[in-house]
Amino acid sequence: TRKPVIPFEEIGEERLHLLIDTFYSKVAKHPLLSPIFPDDLTETARKQKQFMTQYLGGPNLYSEEHGHPMLRARHKPFPITPSRAQAWLECMSEAMDEVELDGTFRDFFYKRLVLTAHHMTNRQEEET
Ligand code: HEM
Repeated sequence: TRKPVIPFEEIGEERLHLLIDTFYSKVAKHPLLSPIFPDDLTETARKQKQFMTQYLGGPNLYSEEHGHPMLRARHKPFPITPSRAQAWLECMSEAMDEVELDGTFRDFFYKRLVLTAHHMTNRQEEET
């Protein structure tokens, strides 16, 4: 039997961390996103590195420190409209371009993020 391919091992810790840092540098500059994020994104990026490690099948770093992710509940305080979800995904897509993530891995990862981003949506545009 073949050894299963773990997405986290495919991207590697270093590349995943670079992707996330690149992503938050874009979030910080995005007019729709920056107002709902803290000014200092150090801690946000640290948690996202932990989360995405486990999301991609690596060690459960996020849950070990913070408990069950309950991501939709944790996002409830923030007004996530369809256009903010789209903006988040655009920042991620640009970050993937910048770190030259491509091929089937990128496809797989991005498609999962599209589903998760839509799941985080918790407000209609007119409610903001
Ligand atoms: C935290 C926005 C989608 C994972 C946050 C925070 C904001 C935010 C404002 C709080 C930052 C802080 O206080 O440090 C958004 C928006 C999204 C989105 C606008 C658009 C759909 C996602 C997706 C994922 C994700 C798709 C995972 C794949 C996380 C994690 C945290 C977080 C792990 C940290 C939670 C914690 O405090 O422990 N997000 N997010 N988010 N987000 Fe998102």
